[in-house]
Amino acid sequence: MLIDGKPSRTIQEIDNYKLSIIDQTLLPHKLEYIALATLEDAFNAIKNMHVRGAPLIGITAAYGMALAIRDDPSKQNINEAEKKLLNSRPTAVDLKWAVNRIKEKVINLNNNERFEAAWLLSGKLAEDSVFECSTIGDIGRDLILKEFKNRKNINILTHCNAGWLACVDWGTALSPIYKLFNEGVDIHVWVDETRPRSQGALLTTWELTKHGVSNTLIVDNAGGHLMQEGKIDMCLVGSDRTTANGDVCNKIGTYLKALSAYDNNLPFYVALPESTIDFSLRSGVNNIPIEERSSKEVSHVIGIDSKGSNAEIRISGEHTNIYNPGFDVTPNKYVTKLITNKGVCEASKEGIDKLFK
Ligand code: MRU
Repeated sequence: MLIDGKPSRTIQEIDNYKLSIIDQTLLPHKLEYIALATLEDAFNAIKNMHVRGAPLIGITAAYGMALAIRDDPSKQNINEAEKKLLNSRPTAVDLKWAVNRIKEKVINLNNNERFEAAWLLSGKLAEDSVFECSTIGDIGRDLILKEFKNRKNINILTHCNAGWLACVDWGTALSPIYKLFNEGVDIHVWVDETRPRSQGALLTTWELTKHGVSNTLIVDNAGGHLMQEGKIDMCLVGSDRTTANGDVCNKIGTYLKALSAYDNNLPFYVALPESTIDFSLRSGVNNIPIEERSSKEVSHVIGIDSKGSNAEIRISGEHTNIYNPGFDVTPNKYVTKLITNKGVCEASKEGIDKLFK
């Protein structure tokens, strides 16, 4: 997508088998790039959320496997790299999917063939991801235009960041929005702040604004009220893991938005690529490993002060007990439809099977 008119991606191959990523921990205050040259670099980038978002985590992990294989192509090292990456972030299933794709590809090759195969496959997975996200955009755009024909403008609520920053390009939930915007549709996005890490406030508003899409930031608790006021036409979010029955695990707070949408009779759509479906899990509630994150994300806020310097402020009492689950599960009955790269389906086992099996 565009940054100040320049086409950009979140991860790119550079010389000597290195990668360049946008450091998403610095946005929106600074746009800086980091080079990744080793498995350790890729692991740290995922773990410390320099890259984040399910599809981008997957692609970075694939390249991480390739970099590990370059340094030591033995089976033992491949298994160790797999284990390390799988422990970096447990909820987004794309990570497991991508690591498995690389391992399956190389494990029966000779040692000297493994790195090239892994690197080429990582590049292909990245290109496939761009294509899938663009396709999600086309399919979502058609669905939204059909649902809201005869409307002068469309107001969409989104949660967290499921835009191009969460993928290689285009995004999942934001991809239909970019497609509509590019075609001149009058579209406005209500952006949930998404505490505690504020991906909505820091990342979603940034990327929408850079592309020129009209957006307004709201606190996480405002969505239900706006729905009652008639300011929201539909919700559109991404997914970190969708189970075989269409339950959707996404950033904490998604479930509450789905409940509000249900109560207000508003469509609640989830956009996702095939790699985000976990066919091994029959349902999501209490079955998906939910990442528990640092208490500091809740007790503190990070930003810049009036002089533009980084600032960290504690907002809770010093010894407050804190619990910080990163994701929640929205049961399929609250999901109007899944928008995937293969088409639109009901959030149900039958709907998913029809498209993917
Ligand atoms: O913790 P993050 O920032 O990795 O969480 C990202 C999300 O929850 C996104 O909504 C999800 O990955 C879907 S993205 C395309």
